[in-house]
Amino acid sequence: MDEKIILGIESSCDETSASVVINGRRILSNVIASQIDIHKRFGGVVPEIASRNHTMAIIPVIDEALTAAGVRPEALDAVGVTCGAGLIGALLVGVSTAKALSFALNKPLVAVSHTRAHVAGNYLAHPDLEPPFICLVVSGGHTSIVRVDGYTEQTVIGATTDDACGEAFDKVARILGLDYPGGPAIDKLAATGAANIDFFKNAKPSGGGDYNFSYSGLKTAVINYVHNAEQAGRKINPADLAASFSEYAVAPLVAKTFRAAREYGLNTVAMCGGVSANTLLRRRMTERAERERVRFLYPPTVLCTDNAAIVASLAYYQLQAGIGLADLTLNAQATLA
Ligand code: KG4
Ligand code: ZN
Repeated sequence: MDEKIILGIESSCDETSASVVINGRRILSNVIASQIDIHKRFGGVVPEIASRNHTMAIIPVIDEALTAAGVRPEALDAVGVTCGAGLIGALLVGVSTAKALSFALNKPLVAVSHTRAHVAGNYLAHPDLEPPFICLVVSGGHTSIVRVDGYTEQTVIGATTDDACGEAFDKVARILGLDYPGGPAIDKLAATGAANIDFFKNAKPSGGGDYNFSYSGLKTAVINYVHNAEQAGRKINPADLAASFSEYAVAPLVAKTFRAAREYGLNTVAMCGGVSANTLLRRRMTERAERERVRFLYPPTVLCTDNAAIVASLAYYQLQAGIGLADLTLNAQATLA
């Protein structure tokens, strides 16, 4: 079989990553330099600091990915890079480096959307997975339900109308004084608590008949709950708050994703993105899939959060289909579907 070796490059937020993947499925290396510890003290990602750290990390990370894969640069078939969505300064580091490499090596340059690449985490983790399927993309920047009709055919059928789910996790963590990124911290805390808080006093927000999501109402309800308790001199139980918030955050994701699978007649459901590392979300999705006799898949955590293997995987499928082939005019885009 003809083997295509792709180098993927990712720098959209606070992870500098490079990966070598064969035929979109087999990972030879996936090097991730995380800046989490650098941004922690600011409580979130500082764009200018992220860009500067990408600049310092990108060449060593690419070198390490090629060395670990045992692949010489000349043996690559293409260079795939995230060109959006993300922080412009951060993206530009990856895009400029990918352009330089593609020019110097005279290899095709493939421009990849970060959100679309997340879906490919499932191709890397599950060798037999083929479209069509429904995919829940749930991260710090996105909360959407995608109908995946082909390796390069994705249609967003619903998305958040305000905050992303991961953003809500991060904000609630901040209210509780937990470190950035808040998702993993809330996940851990929730395991020791009871979901016994009714943030909406029985007036639960309606799920809505579409596939869209909203997280600003839940975020505000949690903030109000904490402020009211403070004013009344009542102590809150952080673990119970984390457990309750997690149930509210997860419920619409599960309900709408499986409703979409039913409506589109698809019996495979996948999920991806940073929040798909969440223990409760994985449990609730698994329970629902068993009840509905639907195949349910998600990648291991390292392929849920930002990494370049997902970029190399999608770049392979785009290369095969002739989609997103770019030249030296390629630019970074802050928003990109
Ligand atoms: O996909 P990702 O690494 O970056 C974006 O593309 O946004 O997702 C990061 C988001 C953050 O909001 C982080 O708090 C959240 O994913 N996250 C989690 C968990 N692990 C990461 N949220 C809930 N539970 C987790 N275990
Ligand atoms: Zn991401």
